[in-house]
Amino acid sequence: MAVVDLAALGEPFTRDPYSVYARLRRQGPVHRIRMPEGGALAWLVVGYEAGRAALADPRLSKDWSRASPDLPLGAVSSGPHMLRADPPDHTRLRRLVARAFTARRVEELAPRIHKTADALVERMRTAPDGRADLVEALSFPLPISVICELLGVPDLDRASFRAWSNEALDATDPDLRKSAAAQMARYITHLVRDKRQHPGDDLLSALMHPPTGTHEDDGDRLTEEELIGMAWLLLVAGHETTVNLISNGVLALLTHPGQLAALRADPTLIDGAVEEMLRYDGPVETPTYRFTTEPVTIGGTTIPAGGELVLIALADADRDPARFPDPDRFDITRDARGHVAFGHGIHYCLGAPLARLEARIAISTLLERCPHLALDVHPAALTWRPGMMIRGPRTLPVRFTP
Ligand code: HEM
Repeated sequence: MAVVDLAALGEPFTRDPYSVYARLRRQGPVHRIRMPEGGALAWLVVGYEAGRAALADPRLSKDWSRASPDLPLGAVSSGPHMLRADPPDHTRLRRLVARAFTARRVEELAPRIHKTADALVERMRTAPDGRADLVEALSFPLPISVICELLGVPDLDRASFRAWSNEALDATDPDLRKSAAAQMARYITHLVRDKRQHPGDDLLSALMHPPTGTHEDDGDRLTEEELIGMAWLLLVAGHETTVNLISNGVLALLTHPGQLAALRADPTLIDGAVEEMLRYDGPVETPTYRFTTEPVTIGGTTIPAGGELVLIALADADRDPARFPDPDRFDITRDARGHVAFGHGIHYCLGAPLARLEARIAISTLLERCPHLALDVHPAALTWRPGMMIRGPRTLPVRFTP
């Protein structure tokens, strides 16, 4: 099968991956590609039905020890964690934190999230020229504050952490990815050790000191490495994605004035609007890596066994006209349920209720406080995060005075 060289497409592909994926989808659900990240060869699954099935396919392992030794993969995360594990390890790791992320537990965080969002938008509004970068002012600080508070690491060095995390996830230079990941690993190891000495009423402390009555051998204890992996995953997944849900969502509203007006006229549309933002321009373009453990045939193409790297284009699944009529139209009143922006199957996003809540609060607060909000740049002048994993603008210049 001919290799589609996505690396060679450069910036236009980063800016608009949708039209490239759609063209591939019209040819079939499986393609051999060269990735922008490090130029590795991978298999790409496009379309809704094939993508959703692949997300839940147990023959596609998340365990990096199953990866073919020929793949030039840099270590981009720290320690073993859920997104690098198959059952039964995955089941055990997920069970340990699932309780902290149920819809009910997350709803209890709403007052704090409102307070943080209010304070951030108010601070943004003090800018004397009535202009701000929304990523810097709201999209980044809100989710990072929430996840740091939840984990119990309020003093995180946010600027360094953000830079390492961005580079580890989407730098196209593998050496840069590796060195950023290594710095982040050292930093998180230090955070975890510090927390062990100063426990509090937070999730990390609870993971270190399970409730009395549980036993070391009943699976409720994490090894030091697993604890570091869990902290890494929650910190990175807890902010890298939600940042872009807020930014991409606000960008979609500001470039679709009719939709913005409809939401302003009826703020109760916010829940459906957030679902449509997730479907239309979700933060995860292709989720974390999967490796074949057996030959997998999709739409007549067989991906060989032996740890071949498989990527699933969530961005394309949610723009598939076979599932969502007129998929390139942003319509906050459509029924966007069933989108796969949070994945599907056993790795379905643990933080989905939290991400939805943060986005609803952030966007509602912003619209309420800024009746004249507008984009302060031509949309074509925005620069986008590189790589195929994360989708979002690096900055989002806005103005809020008439
Ligand atoms: C809009 C925001 C978010 C999006 C679009 C998103 C998307 C995703 C996706 C697509 C996956 C599945 C990856 C795969 O199958 O390879 C996932 C998994 C995960 N997400 Fe999120 N996520 C978001 C926010 C969050 C937040 C706020 C947290 C937590 C604090 C979080 C924690 C996790 C965890 C722990 C997993 C791994 C679950 C498992 O392996 O069982 N995410 N997320």
